Order: sequence, then structure tokens, then C-alpha cells
Amino acid sequence: GQDTGRGAPSTPGPAVPPGVHPAVGEYVEQGAGAGVSLAEATRAWHDWRVVPRLFRDTTHVDLGVDLLGSRYGVGVGAAPTTLQREIHPDGELAVARALAAAGAPMVVSSNAATTFAEIGATGVGWWLQAYVPQDRGLARGLLGRAVAAGARAVVLTVDTPVVSTRRAGPSGSVWDAVDPASVRVNFDRGYLEARGSEKATDLGPADVAWLGETTGLPVVVKGVLDADGARAAVDAGAAAVWVSTHGGRQLDRVPATAHVLGEVASAVGHDAEVYVDGGLRDGVDLLLAWALGARCAFLGRPVSRALADGEEGVASWLRGLTTAAVEAVRLAGCTGVEDCRGLRLERAVGGCG
Ligand code: FNR
Repeated sequence: GQDTGRGAPSTPGPAVPPGVHPAVGEYVEQGAGAGVSLAEATRAWHDWRVVPRLFRDTTHVDLGVDLLGSRYGVGVGAAPTTLQREIHPDGELAVARALAAAGAPMVVSSNAATTFAEIGATGVGWWLQAYVPQDRGLARGLLGRAVAAGARAVVLTVDTPVVSTRRAGPSGSVWDAVDPASVRVNFDRGYLEARGSEKATDLGPADVAWLGETTGLPVVVKGVLDADGARAAVDAGAAAVWVSTHGGRQLDRVPATAHVLGEVASAVGHDAEVYVDGGLRDGVDLLLAWALGARCAFLGRPVSRALADGEEGVASWLRGLTTAAVEAVRLAGCTGVEDCRGLRLERAVGGCG
């Protein structure tokens, strides 16, 4: 169930880092369908205008947050992405060490090429991202290993009953360059060949409850894009909802996350936490995410790009991003992530949405 690599040609993205197989760089940058959601994601954050609060004491700005009962140093984290070891030999370990140093949460893909035990040993606060297979029982081994390795939450991705056809680049399918077995190190032996290992096409509320019971961890539902979806997730027992378009890699032409986050946050109220990802790139984007009600903002591709320079690449990228976020928060007259919530925003006239 991987992408065929035969979509429309990709637009030229940021340069593929030297030493990385071009098909891997293209895989990271690609979007689904005509690439509308991919192109719109960052632009949509640019549609908002912030009205700063005046006469606030912003001497002390602290971006720390409580997420699902644990304290983190910053309300920014790494979204789950695959192929980290194809970008740098340290892969997930480089990301984990850099994020651990900053106290930022790391969400680890089920398709990580590093074992959960090694990732957990870095001390990073990490959550497992899981897809539920058609035969639910096949996931038990993987879930158990994540719990044993200290995962603090399980993130159920609900936007992927099937992997979308993607806009592959000129180098063709990444799976001709990468051994699919390398992204199965956390699965039971023989998982790939097992009947029922394909992604479930009948995900329901019961799966949220089942994941919670099986792992004993809070469940986050990733891929929510409206109030109804958010309420359904919360009613099913989700401790948090994650507004996401999967980086424009699943259904093309869904709404941009920047445009629907506020609706989701209002629908959820205090019943669950709210997170967001998709196209977030600079400090003002993060300010907007927090203002619109997200307690944590996650980034995917920027982490992968920074990972080309290993742990130090990710660490220095994250330092730059958080420094920019502190500046934006201060300029808006706020002192922290939760303090940004409810900041007065206006939609720009002539914006893209
Ligand atoms: C992803 N994403 C993703 N999501 C998920 O739930 N499980 C996964 O295994 C993956 N794998 C993956 C690989 C790559 C290369 C990318 C770029 C993305 C989606 C990811 O978690 C996140 O939703 C988006 O990447 C966020 O958008 P930005 O920050 O990349 O614009």
C-alpha cells in the first residue's frame, strides 16, 4: 500500500540535500493529486492578521506547555514522518536527541527505521503514531513495544484508509530506492506478508477506545478538519484532536488547517487538547496556531530537511524557530503559548481562502 510514484510531475521543491537519494528528497516534498493542498498549506497561515495586545509585560516569555499530563519545554514538536534514516544515518535518533535537548515532543511513525527502544532511550518525550491494520490484532506487538519503550501517547492517523497517489518526482518511486523492510523494524516478523496487515478501511470510534485500552495511553486522533470530526473523536474517547491534512499528501483540496483550526478548537472546548500541523514554517505561523487554539504545533518536512545535517542540524533549526516564535509572541503582547489563545485575529482581504 505505498504510493506508486506515478502522479503528476512534482513542482521543484527545496534542493535535495547532497548524499540523499533524489527519490527520497522528492518523496519528502511531494503532495497528492494536483498539489493544491500542498501549495495552499503555508499560504493559508499568511491569510491571518494579528492585532497585538498593548501594554502587556512581555519581559518573561515561556513557550512551555502541558500536553496529555506531561510538561514540555515548548509547544512545538516533530510530526511523524518516515524515511528519516534515508536522510541521515542517525535518522530518528538525531531528531530525538535534538528534541530531547529542547524539551520538545517527538511523534514517531510506526514506519520508523529505528526501534522504539532506541528512541525511548534518548530520553525524548515521544508518542507513537499508528495506523490500524484491517486485522486489529496484528498491531498488538508493535503497540506493546511502544508502551515498553515509554511512549506517552498513541496518535491514530484517520486520514489514510488508503495511501493517496502522490506527485512523484523525476527519480520515480522511492520504493525502488528504499527497501520497504527498513521501515518495518518495529513490526512483528512477517507483518508485511500477513493477511489483514493492510490499513483498515473501516476505522470507527471503537478503534479509539481499543487503542486506549490496549496501550493504557491517551489517544490522539490525527486528521481532523472540522467540528463534526472533532466532536466524533472526542466522543469516541480521544484525549486530543490533531488538525492535519497529512501535509497535503492524502485527499487533495481539503481545507487548509490554518482555516479550520479555530472551528475545531471551538467545538472541542475544554473536552480535549487540540494540535495542528501543515505548512507551519516561521515564528508568526506558530503564534497563529497557538492563537487559534492549538496547544502544540507540529512540523514535518522542515524537520526532515534539517535532518540532512544530523542532530546539530535539527537542533539549530529548532533553536531558530523557537527564537522566532518567542519574538512573535512578544511582539503580539503575549507571554506564552496559552496566553496567545484568543488573541484578536482578522482574515486578510484577498487571502487565498
Ligand atoms: C508524513 N506524514 C505522516 N503522517 C502520519 O501520520 N504517518 C506517517 O507515517 C507520515 N509519514 C510522512 C512522511 C513524510 C516524508 C512526510 C512529509 C509526511 C504527515 C506528517 O505527519 C504531517 O502531517 C505533515 O508532514 C505536516 O505538514 P508539513 O509540516 O510537512 O507541511
